[in-house]
Amino acid sequence: MESKQSLKSVLKRLRLSGILSTLPERVAYARKAKLEMQDFLELVLQDEIDRREQSNLRVRLQKARFTEEQTLEGFDWDAPITFDRDRVRQLFSLAFLEAHEDVIFMGPVGVGKTHLAAALGHAACRSGRDVLMIRADLLLRELLQSRADHTTSKTMRKFISPDLLILDDFGLRAAIDVHANNFERRTGVAVDLHLPPEDVRFGSFLETTIYRIVQELLTNVAKHAGATRVTIQTLVRNNVLALTVQDNGKGFDVKRSLLASARQTHHGLRNIRERVEFFGGVFRVESVPGGGTEVLIELPLEDKTAMATRKEKPL
Ligand SMILES: Nc1ncnc2c1ncn2[C@@H]1O[C@H](COP(=O)(O)OP(=O)(O)OP(=O)(O)O)[C@@H](O)[C@H]1O
Ligand SMILES: [Mg+2]
Repeated sequence: MESKQSLKSVLKRLRLSGILSTLPERVAYARKAKLEMQDFLELVLQDEIDRREQSNLRVRLQKARFTEEQTLEGFDWDAPITFDRDRVRQLFSLAFLEAHEDVIFMGPVGVGKTHLAAALGHAACRSGRDVLMIRADLLLRELLQSRADHTTSKTMRKFISPDLLILDDFGLRAAIDVHANNFERRTGVAVDLHLPPEDVRFGSFLETTIYRIVQELLTNVAKHAGATRVTIQTLVRNNVLALTVQDNGKGFDVKRSLLASARQTHHGLRNIRERVEFFGGVFRVESVPGGGTEVLIELPLEDKTAMATRKEKPL
């Protein structure tokens, strides 16, 4: 008993108290396997190394500020997207970090750029590097803010000290903003946007869904409505995200059109309905000929992580 107490304080002084938790188990094993003393010592010290590496990794992952658990193992290699697979695999050797090279993932919304970047960050964390992942607009905002309160050098240090800084794109609000601006320029239809603030995030899968839905609904307005104005509005209440897209165009007979959809002649609205139902949400179209069209979508937000791990369903 006494020797155990003194062992405890010796290990504590050496900052090795972690060994104590597995020591009884290791002693029993050493006796059973008749380990040499040297091998036994190596075993308990290796345990300590593993423990320290695990805890360092936990801290690094926390400091990296990943918003979702995205690893290369979770990447959907069978998704119908085209990219240079060998090159991506090669990236994960992390040689670019040694060479101080930059990596840019380019491609349309929803193909998994954020996922790949976060997975690369995870791999870097696991290899002992310090990583920070942040959305580009938030980084710019922090830098701007730091000029106002004279903390620029401290803020800059935060962004340049990690071994890998991952800048993600501008998020849902900015993506819809850009799309709506282009739409306005192309079609002459005015767009009113009422979107959530930039720092409200719904997870990349849900955000991609919302972006695709807005894209399809605006296409419908341009193709069918003959409208002069469209309003896109989002509202988050009681863990439900409500999205409405309303135009002042010529409207249509919803029942007839949905019947035509069922006959597979039109895909847009049917695809939206399927996608919303996939997320457990509600989809409603209200329109009367001559009276404009309103599409209302409600998406539950509770189980964000479950949504994020669901496989992406192409629209
Ligand atoms: N905003 C709108 N204003 C007027 N009519 C609309 C509007 N949105 C849809 N419609 C009508 O509903 C029909 C079904 O729309 P849906 O998006 O499902 O198919 P589509 O646009 O015709 O074809 P697809 O989307 O497959 O290219 C349209 O053909 C159109 O008649
Ligand atoms: Mg359509």
